[in-house]
Amino acid sequence: MAIELNEGFATRLRSSIRDSRLTVVQGSAEFIDGFLGEHGLPAPDAVISGIPFSTMPRAVADRIAAAVAGALARAVASSPTRCGRTWPTTPRRTSAGRAGSGS
Ligand SMILES: C[S@@+](CC[C@H](N)C(=O)[O-])C[C@H]1O[C@@H](n2cnc3c(N)ncnc32)[C@H](O)[C@@H]1O
Repeated sequence: MAIELNEGFATRLRSSIRDSRLTVVQGSAEFIDGFLGEHGLPAPDAVISGIPFSTMPRAVADRIAAAVAGALARAVASSPTRCGRTWPTTPRRTSAGRAGSGS
């Protein structure tokens, strides 16, 4: 799923990229959760962004960052072994007192 704020650019992406795997949504990335839900998509494994965070109002940037972090956290919570690997846990102590591998 691609989220683009500019309506003209979103329309252009839809018409120029003919790929059945691509869903282009017009709107703000602040609402990523709502867009995922509307399209029946699960939480994302990754988010790639070209959003100009440094030139937008701080409050908007913060809301986008929080929404994206929340979506990514849901992906980890729903499937800790996604991609065939386990996510890091707190290192365990060995009998010698050193941190072990955690596995
Ligand atoms: C620098 S352009 C990058 C465009 C594209 N990623 C590329 O690499 O060609 C930044 C894009 O972010 C979009 N954008 C800005 N704020 C956004 C937001 N809140 N949600 C989604 N897209 C946003 C703009 O409309 C613009 O198309």
